[in-house]
Amino acid sequence: MKILAIETSCDETAVALLECSGNLDAPQFKILSNALVSQIEMHKEFGGVVPMLAKREHEKNLPVLVEKVLKEARESLDKPDIDYVAVTAGPGLEPALWAGIVFSKEIGERWGIPVLPINHMEGHIYSTLFGIKERLILPAIALLVSGGHTELVHIKNYGEYEVIGQTRDDAVGEAFDKVARLLGLEYPGGPKISKLADLHRASGLTPTFELPRPMIHSNDYDFSFSGLKTSVLYRLKDQTITKEVQEEMARAFEDAAIEVLITKTEKALEEYGVNTLIVAGGVSANKYLRSELEKIKTKNTGLNLLLPENSLTTDNAVMIGITGFINLLKNPNLALETHSIEARGNLSLS
Ligand code: KG4
Ligand code: ZN
Repeated sequence: MKILAIETSCDETAVALLECSGNLDAPQFKILSNALVSQIEMHKEFGGVVPMLAKREHEKNLPVLVEKVLKEARESLDKPDIDYVAVTAGPGLEPALWAGIVFSKEIGERWGIPVLPINHMEGHIYSTLFGIKERLILPAIALLVSGGHTELVHIKNYGEYEVIGQTRDDAVGEAFDKVARLLGLEYPGGPKISKLADLHRASGLTPTFELPRPMIHSNDYDFSFSGLKTSVLYRLKDQTITKEVQEEMARAFEDAAIEVLITKTEKALEEYGVNTLIVAGGVSANKYLRSELEKIKTKNTGLNLLLPENSLTTDNAVMIGITGFINLLKNPNLALETHSIEARGNLSLS
């Protein structure tokens, strides 16, 4: 089965054509073609993503990217041999989401094929199924960490989710980006903080101070990262930002943020008694987080740890196509049951 996937929830216009086969025990995905245009450079000058600007850019990029993907996969431009269009319906910026939805409905009608609405966070969860060797064993706990979300999710079964905890203020990726800005680094700062922290670790030094671990022992699965960012701000007051200051602060911040994520995730695994841990979203590319996750795996023999390939950690269309296929495997009548597709900025997994 071929699925054309479209993702426009934020500042990335992404289109992918996937060949999907197999069943829920062994789903298989082949990327026939994959294209992405990032709007980061354009939004940078406004200090954040401007929704109406993102919408306009998506509208401009989509026809170009779809044509590129079809050509690359040697498909006809008028009547390609495709079974479904899968499009992100939320969560995200509503004007940006609408651009993808309106465009998908248009091509769906033109080609006479159904359009499936996809939850972006479900997309991050199933991004880990690409190239998976073993079976996905449910129930599972998912830690979803990106620029817009920090969530712990109890996955009871395919399509059955309970968000058991989430951030009360900033998302962890957002905190990485804000701390990076305080250190004079450009957006997106996550990967830059990670590199600096790794340099500090490699030097064998330990930070001369510790930053707080907000809510680490709270009696729930919620997070809070804005206070951590504020502590960085206070510590940097009247300091000259040298390379040494950058490295030590990046290290202290990363140690604190990751320790909170790891502690709460371990607690959730234990309390829910599950053997599968999925970690996805932009921050799941973080090397230190991955090494700390490996430690959880070593401590818990039999734990299945699923992480996306590096190229699928940040927003992409491949994960939207994968999710479309998984949802179809679970409910082959999905297309018949889908009546109208609307953008839902706050769409939740629960
Ligand atoms: O999932 P994503 O592409 O977009 C959202 O849906 O938000 O995540 C982007 C976020 C940014 O905040 C970025 O700084 C962060 O992921 N990020 C990282 C790393 N790579 C990306 N944060 C920490 N370490 C990294 N290596
Ligand atoms: Zn995302």
